[in-house]
Amino acid sequence: MQISVTGGELAKQAADTYVVGIAEGARRLTGQAATLDRALDGALTAQITAGIAKGRSGELAAVATSGRLPARTVVMIGTGKRDEAETADALRTRVANVARRLRTMEAGAVAFASGDATAALDPADAGRAIAEGFILGLYRFDKHHTNAADRALGSIGDVTLVEPTASRVAPLTTGADEGVIVAEAQNLARDLGNEPANLMTPSILAARAQRLASEHGLECKVIERAEAERLKMGSYLSVTNGSVQPPKFIVLTYRGGRGNRFIGLVGKGITFDTGGISLKPGAGMESMKGDMTGAAVVIAAMGAIAQLKPAVNVMAIAPCTENMPSGSATKPGDVVYAMDGQSIEVVNTDAEGRLVLADALAYARAEGCTTLIDVATLTGAMSVALGAVRYGVFANDDRVYRDLERAATAAGERVWRLPLDAEYEELIKSDVADIKNTGGRAAGSITAAKFLQHFAGDTPWAHLDIAGVMATSSDKGVLVKGNSGMPVRTLVNFVLARAR
Ligand code: BES
Ligand code: MN
Ligand code: ZN
Repeated sequence: MQISVTGGELAKQAADTYVVGIAEGARRLTGQAATLDRALDGALTAQITAGIAKGRSGELAAVATSGRLPARTVVMIGTGKRDEAETADALRTRVANVARRLRTMEAGAVAFASGDATAALDPADAGRAIAEGFILGLYRFDKHHTNAADRALGSIGDVTLVEPTASRVAPLTTGADEGVIVAEAQNLARDLGNEPANLMTPSILAARAQRLASEHGLECKVIERAEAERLKMGSYLSVTNGSVQPPKFIVLTYRGGRGNRFIGLVGKGITFDTGGISLKPGAGMESMKGDMTGAAVVIAAMGAIAQLKPAVNVMAIAPCTENMPSGSATKPGDVVYAMDGQSIEVVNTDAEGRLVLADALAYARAEGCTTLIDVATLTGAMSVALGAVRYGVFANDDRVYRDLERAATAAGERVWRLPLDAEYEELIKSDVADIKNTGGRAAGSITAAKFLQHFAGDTPWAHLDIAGVMATSSDKGVLVKGNSGMPVRTLVNFVLARAR
């Protein structure tokens, strides 16, 4: 599916389906809908008068054109009350819901009236929201269904946004092009996260990162086990001990700015988390194939960044490994040393994310990252606290938090800040090492963040705990059942804003 923007009139477009917005309670049609209505001898108005199309948000009414227009169908979509201020987020959500309905209808090539619903919005924001709505909403992961019937969700042709106001065409196009890049990056993260762990090992993930790098002109370095040993990444390596899969510490570099300072995007890459010797219960363990979502998200975001070319340097760091029990696995009580020399008592091998991130953060700082954002499916306690609506953010720096919150809000992804008070430190003091890797049940997400703070040191840093938003249980707006690919949009926005 291609998404493009054109100036002119909807009624003249060569397409199979025209889509127009209808405001709730509107008695008369205006703009492009009015033109279509005249060509259809009032058939759209008749839908409103008969009470079939009420304009309620989420509502959809289809009218056959019977040869009176180039398209065979006009779809009227409810845009809600006109006085309710339209937001880019509401538009993105509505478009995603409509896109799935159009797919079920086998709508073919779609011409979409951009003007009616988006006049109140900045055209670039509207273009981005519409493109993201289509591409994210239509995502599916069906490659392992071998029966065609299980893949039959329908299909949709190319989408053309038709804009009557000439001056809005260029910014709408810029926004739509950006939306396509960012949404496709998020769908890539979803693909990586949805893939089962036998088909998304650290080696396979590294090969995918290498392919992305060569497609988009990024530098890619994969640190193998032997080099990680030379670098003294004892914390990261301790998690790899139980697995027969070789670990891969993936580093992607984008150079858009001057000098050797980088924004560091660090992503937890546990391709499967069994818990290790502190084994997890069996029920639901299959969801732990998604425990590399942080890595998937930072890798995928780099693909978008490489295409959008902001004037800033960015490094993505993804420590990848399985967390498995075996005769060679790390045991509760073991003491390991991170590359920056700090000692860690591993009291629970299921708190492995912070162990791989400790070395990744230390490595990032050693490589010149002067702002750090880590993204991790770190704690089950995060979904207890915030559910699947918002993800938690911890930051040692107010400016990083503020910029991150702005980036998230603009992206339509929601965050909530949690605290890092010094008192929480008590809970992760160890009798035998500098620090221990769990602090018990109380404040589980906070003690995990406090642990990471040790390795961020005085570098401005934010930690995004995405465990609660990792996956979605049903199709809703831009989210499709399965891995969410969150927060690719926030990360890309953050980097773009830092470059401005
Ligand atoms: N990967 C899990 C956290 C998780 C749980 C992510 C559910 C997504 C959904 C993490 O490695 C983990 O096991 N955390 C433990 C920490 C505990 C041992 C201190 C947890 O949350 O139980
Ligand atoms: Mn774990
Ligand atoms: Zn984990």
